[in-house]
Amino acid sequence: MTATPDYGNWVSARLVVVLGVISVLVACLGFLYWPLGLLTLPFFIVCLYFAYARYSFSSRGGNLQARIEALVLDHLVWDGAGRVLDIGCGNGPLTIALAKTFPRAQVTGIDLWGAGWEYAQSVCEQNAQAEAVAERVTFRRASAASLPFEDGVFDAAVSNLVFHEVQGVAERTVLLEEALRVVKKGGPFAFQDLFLWKRAYGDIEAVLATLRSSGLASVELIRTCDVPFIPRALRLPFMVGTMAVICGTK
Ligand SMILES: C[S@@+](CC[C@H](N)C(=O)[O-])C[C@H]1O[C@@H](n2cnc3c(N)ncnc32)[C@H](O)[C@@H]1O
Repeated sequence: MTATPDYGNWVSARLVVVLGVISVLVACLGFLYWPLGLLTLPFFIVCLYFAYARYSFSSRGGNLQARIEALVLDHLVWDGAGRVLDIGCGNGPLTIALAKTFPRAQVTGIDLWGAGWEYAQSVCEQNAQAEAVAERVTFRRASAASLPFEDGVFDAAVSNLVFHEVQGVAERTVLLEEALRVVKKGGPFAFQDLFLWKRAYGDIEAVLATLRSSGLASVELIRTCDVPFIPRALRLPFMVGTMAVICGTK
């Protein structure tokens, strides 16, 4: 059992190390052939940027990752009675936050825990033990594209930065529909993703219109990038710049 939970970091250590190694290699090659040396600075700046982002997301550097995740719960209007699903739970930060925020809730976290990620079901379970919520939290391997649950079995659902990662779906909105399928009528939901990224979602206003016409009681979009605590440097489109929360009631 871990004493301190490990929720990982959205910017992987591997990425920062690889960029650092490339910067050093390019600098060395610059000594042999000077034009290559001109590339050292851009590689070094990109490496520094991702190191800064990783630090900002970590608990030592402002805890930005946890604060952004907390926005999902801030927009989930729920009394905490019943079952709630966290889709693509990673190492379980949101799943466990749900259990801590709603002491009456039974919480399920699902994820594929694929090879490309520094997340694992065993770490989720250790984290739940460390946070003393293990008896109300269940983790299960499953895909957001095809949730292994009957229609309407959850009283609420959340997700954080998962839908844009799901492979093999032509339309991202199918994932929203699948998430909403398992929520009971009248249940709240809050999903945060790169909803303003046009390549993934197209025109988000059209997505919202489709959701509204599907019979949801309410739905709204909140732009994460407008939240004041996000540093300007992290508002670039490939970081927090295209994030938003879609929330409402089914
Ligand atoms: C950026 S991480 C976010 C993890 C977590 N929600 C958090 O806030 O820390 C994206 C997660 O999506 C998961 N994922 C990718 N494809 C998935 C799929 N088809 N079904 C479920 N989870 C998936 C990954 O395994 C990873 O844990």
